[in-house]
Amino acid sequence: MPLVTTKEMFKKAYEGGYAIGAFNVNNMEIVQGITEAAKEANAPLILQVSAGARKYANHTYLMKLIDAAVIETGLPIAVHLDHGDTFELCKSCIDGGFTSVMIDGSHLSFEDNIKLTKQVVDYAHPRGVVVEAELGRLAGIEDAVNVSEADAAYTDPNEVEEFVQRTGVDSLAIAIGTSHGAYKFKGEAKLRFDILEEIQKRLPGFPIVLHGASSVIPEYVETINKFGGQMPGAKGVPEDMLRKAASMAVCKINIDSDLRLAMTATIRKMFAENPSEFDPRKYLGPARSEIKKLVLHKLNNVLGCAGKA
Ligand code: G3H
Ligand code: 13P
Ligand code: ZN
Repeated sequence: MPLVTTKEMFKKAYEGGYAIGAFNVNNMEIVQGITEAAKEANAPLILQVSAGARKYANHTYLMKLIDAAVIETGLPIAVHLDHGDTFELCKSCIDGGFTSVMIDGSHLSFEDNIKLTKQVVDYAHPRGVVVEAELGRLAGIEDAVNVSEADAAYTDPNEVEEFVQRTGVDSLAIAIGTSHGAYKFKGEAKLRFDILEEIQKRLPGFPIVLHGASSVIPEYVETINKFGGQMPGAKGVPEDMLRKAASMAVCKINIDSDLRLAMTATIRKMFAENPSEFDPRKYLGPARSEIKKLVLHKLNNVLGCAGKA
């Protein structure tokens, strides 16, 4: 099966009350860990590439790794640009074989966000590529952009119908209290399910995307700190909240930080226990296995998309 768009995946996910995992990829071991898990779980999959990942690993290398994953797994896999910030970046990814792009105009005014999103949609759709946009603003760090909590804003349900109708966008990322990175909640985790419910009412059947959805798994943070790390008390989105979102209109759940934590915890432990080791396969191999274990857990127990490929 060649690379697919998210159209069919989202339709089935919406109707089935589950979500597709969108995992960020930056190198071969990450691609392999995620895709081996998806194969074992027989789950549809979105592999997403940020501008930073593209700079780090190079567009062609990432595409070829993803092509290899398609051959190895036979799964429906979509390749998606995460947080595209310009028309040119989206165009370059569309021309380079991505099947889905996100244009993130969430920092712009409503009118400018519509204008930029529509420009990308008008380029993407005739080429068979789907587009995700964002309305509302998450807190946290993406590439060089750091949105403070004070500047973050929940999505206004009053704006969503007009936005979707005027842009022709295929899915919408919303802000309901999640944020990017490993430090999401100081106290108790709170998500505005009332806003999600209202948006779902205004846009029946329309796929919603949840960014900043890592759970910041405590065991990984503990391991990192046990073996020389200094991560302050980190808190992510509880899994039951992700399950609830997936049973509603949320069809795509974005996970990156948990992958980073899994990899870093494994490598720190490995070096602490084997200080003379210097073969990269001896630390990247276990990191890849841990990513596979983590993704299997997400697919089977959190997102509900196992067996749905
Ligand atoms: O939302 C941001 C993703 O975690 C990607 O992070 O821009 O550092 O690759 P990055
Ligand atoms: P996390 O930082 O919670 O993993 O979010 C990732 C994300 O939203 C990528 O777009
Ligand atoms: Zn994001």
